[in-house]
Amino acid sequence: MAGKATFSILALLCAIGASAQQTCKLTPFDADWPSEADWSALNTTLGGSLIKTQPVASSCYPGNPFHSSQACETVKKEWGYSYYHASLPESIGSPLYANNSCLPPGAPGYTPTKGCEVGGAPQYVVNATTEGQVATAMVWASERNIRIIIKGTGHDLNGRSSGAYSLSIWTHNFKNLDFDAAWRSPSDNRTEAAIILGSGHNWGSASRGAAKFGRVLVGGVDQTVGVGGHIQGGGHGPLSSTLGLGADQILQVRVVTTQGQILVANEAQNQDLLWAIRGGGAGQYGVVTEYVLKAHPNPGNVVSCTIEVSAAGNDIAAKEAAWRGFAVLLASIPDLMDAGLTGTGMGLASTSQDASVCNSTRKASVSIGFFTYNTTEEKVASLLKPVRDRILAEVGNSTVTVSLSEPSTQADFMTFFESANDAPSAAGTAGLMTSRLLGRKELSGIPISTLASYLQRLMVTQDPTGTALMVIGLQGGLGPRNVPEVMRGALNPAWRSAYIHMMSYGASVDSNVSPQEALDGVAQWLEETKEPVWREWAPGSGAYMNEGNAFDRMFKEDFYGASYDRLVEIKRKYDPTESLFVLSGVGSDAWDYNLNTGKLCSKCV
Ligand SMILES: Cc1cc2nc3c(=O)[nH]c(=O)nc-3n(C[C@H](O)[C@H](O)[C@H](O)COP(=O)(O)OP(=O)(O)OC[C@H]3O[C@@H](n4cnc5c(N)ncnc54)[C@H](O)[C@@H]3O)c2cc1C
Ligand SMILES: *[C@@H]1O[C@H](CO)[C@@H](O)[C@H](O)[C@H]1NC(C)=O
Ligand SMILES: *[C@@H]1O[C@H](CO)[C@@H](O)[C@H](O)[C@H]1NC(C)=O
Ligand SMILES: *[C@@H]1O[C@H](CO)[C@@H](O)[C@H](O)[C@H]1NC(C)=O
Ligand SMILES: *[C@@H]1O[C@H](CO)[C@@H](O)[C@H](O)[C@H]1NC(C)=O
Ligand SMILES: *[C@@H]1O[C@H](CO)[C@@H](O)[C@H](O)[C@H]1NC(C)=O
Ligand SMILES: *[C@@H]1O[C@H](CO)[C@@H](O)[C@H](O)[C@H]1NC(C)=O
Ligand SMILES: *[C@@H]1O[C@H](CO)[C@@H](O)[C@H](O)[C@H]1NC(C)=O
Repeated sequence: MAGKATFSILALLCAIGASAQQTCKLTPFDADWPSEADWSALNTTLGGSLIKTQPVASSCYPGNPFHSSQACETVKKEWGYSYYHASLPESIGSPLYANNSCLPPGAPGYTPTKGCEVGGAPQYVVNATTEGQVATAMVWASERNIRIIIKGTGHDLNGRSSGAYSLSIWTHNFKNLDFDAAWRSPSDNRTEAAIILGSGHNWGSASRGAAKFGRVLVGGVDQTVGVGGHIQGGGHGPLSSTLGLGADQILQVRVVTTQGQILVANEAQNQDLLWAIRGGGAGQYGVVTEYVLKAHPNPGNVVSCTIEVSAAGNDIAAKEAAWRGFAVLLASIPDLMDAGLTGTGMGLASTSQDASVCNSTRKASVSIGFFTYNTTEEKVASLLKPVRDRILAEVGNSTVTVSLSEPSTQADFMTFFESANDAPSAAGTAGLMTSRLLGRKELSGIPISTLASYLQRLMVTQDPTGTALMVIGLQGGLGPRNVPEVMRGALNPAWRSAYIHMMSYGASVDSNVSPQEALDGVAQWLEETKEPVWREWAPGSGAYMNEGNAFDRMFKEDFYGASYDRLVEIKRKYDPTESLFVLSGVGSDAWDYNLNTGKLCSKCV
């Protein structure tokens, strides 16, 4: 109740334009910030699960100011890996978004003069193992106007699992996993095979757990990605183009709200919350402690085959041809996906190393690893050979090289999954990108030359000598399109007509300024250089919020589409104190978070 009162007072102050009364979440510099004794009392209530943040790299600084228990050498060695940040209560994989507050020497963004502070990390972390602890801690913080953040693995590419002067709910230890062969929907009594999954799992432990019951889940391709944020933001992976996104698999969730309610949301109760959790963005409505997800039968063998297109020389003709070859390949994708193929690819565009070539056209190459299930190598080769021929016919074999690998077969999904995870995934750098969901119209509804020019304009780097990278995810298609209405929630409707989720990289982080200023610089460059190309090529097509430009000034339309307005209402209902703020979250435009001050303040617009 205290929470509700706070919200109306904030709203009132804004309404009467009390700009002098700008309302901010509490910081330790405010008189009302709880004392050590207050935090200690909370800890007692929580059964001793409260952790005062000790940045792990503190051991790399004189006197180890925060008493890190890990040797600096260990921290330096492990810093570049995702699993490491996931194992620590406070750490995140893109530390720039936590103000680079305590980096080990050698880490991207490290400057010897900066020192080690808690800074952009949460002040305290609840190492939760029960919903009661989560509820108690969040009510306590909300009543005190303290910002709350939620961390699963810390993988978020835009640092949405960190925040200065916050209390963090760490879901890492919600690790239950069960199988129910006939989970009964309370709305219509239909039964579904389901995996009941604690939100502390990552896709490695969840996929292996499901495999023990002979089932597969729609998860991410990388084993270190957590189920918490992946699913709620959409969640694509190797099965999404066949079965729909992660968010489309949710039968039920258990959610703890900032007001302390412990809710079950399914098709018969708290349907609005279920709808929001089904793709409306993570870290915003409450803490999901448990998912009930559709569990699918093994899809059969996995047959893979790769196509690569590259310029056959350094001359202008070859470079131009490679861009057109790239475009022909992309234009072929909707039909290939309708025929059952999925996959991921990568495009590169390098600047000339040859000074005699007086033309700035970049040299492009593209490689797409296609795969599909339960089929033969002959079938896959018969789908891809005509694509190779089409590229050669359109651009000529004297100017581009097109190679088609021999198809290969893996016995089943888990063999494929384990082989995709044979090396640990990287962390420690900032995931600065912009992305779009592209449909048939954008890929095969425009002339090849027009498509090639969009690609060429997108594949630029802020550092003019850099190599531009594009990641091409074949994660839309029939799967998202055929999801039954009863399973659909707030997920960006753009996914229903998308084929490719395309990510474009190339921004540089200025290490001579503060993280806030560096991010402002990146935001401006993306807004001026890349967003205009997307807006021209794919107006209104939407983007994937988990792998997108969190500074997109049109984030409401791009990340949420038509679901946005209803999500604002649901957010207001379940988090009336607005304790949960994330970058480009629902209603986030009413707040200003500044890494320099660490303050989160309402804008009173
Ligand atoms: C190496 C790597 C590989 C990736 N591969 C894929 C991929 O194959 N497919 C794909 O779709 N995406 C992929 N992503 C992007 C991924 O979807 C996002 O990073 C996502 O935010 C990860 O969620 P998390 O829970 O692991 O991360 P976290 O950083 O812990 O959380 C992300 C967001 O979710 C919130 N959150 C986490 N848990 C909960 C919970 N239980 N309840 C409420 N909110 C919660 C957090 O507050 C935060 O806002 C990848 C990212 C990385 C770094
Ligand atoms: C909470 O209590 C536990 C157990 O007594 C203790 O180890 C821990 O340091 C305490 N945390 C805080 C923030 O005081
Ligand atoms: C963030 O880092 C900058 C310097 O890079 C520093 O001036 C600022 O105080 C830091 N902010 C917080 C909240 O620690
Ligand atoms: C978190 O809690 C779990 C379960 O009680 C415990 O095993 C683990 O050591 C704790 N982690 C930290 C970092 O305190
Ligand atoms: C589901 O089945 C139960 C028990 O058979 C029955 O009582 C209930 O009315 C059914 N609910 C619906 C929505 O059909
Ligand atoms: C594999 O394909 C065969 C027919 O080609 C079909 O009968 C079978 O159900 C498929 N298996 C799966 C798991 O889809
Ligand atoms: C480079 O060459 C291409 C093809 O001839 C031409 O279209 C383009 O304008 C040239 N670019 C520059 C910067 O000269
Ligand atoms: C290019 O195509 C021509 C005509 O089809 C063919 O004769 C030639 O062998 C091809 N060259 C290469 C390198 O594939």
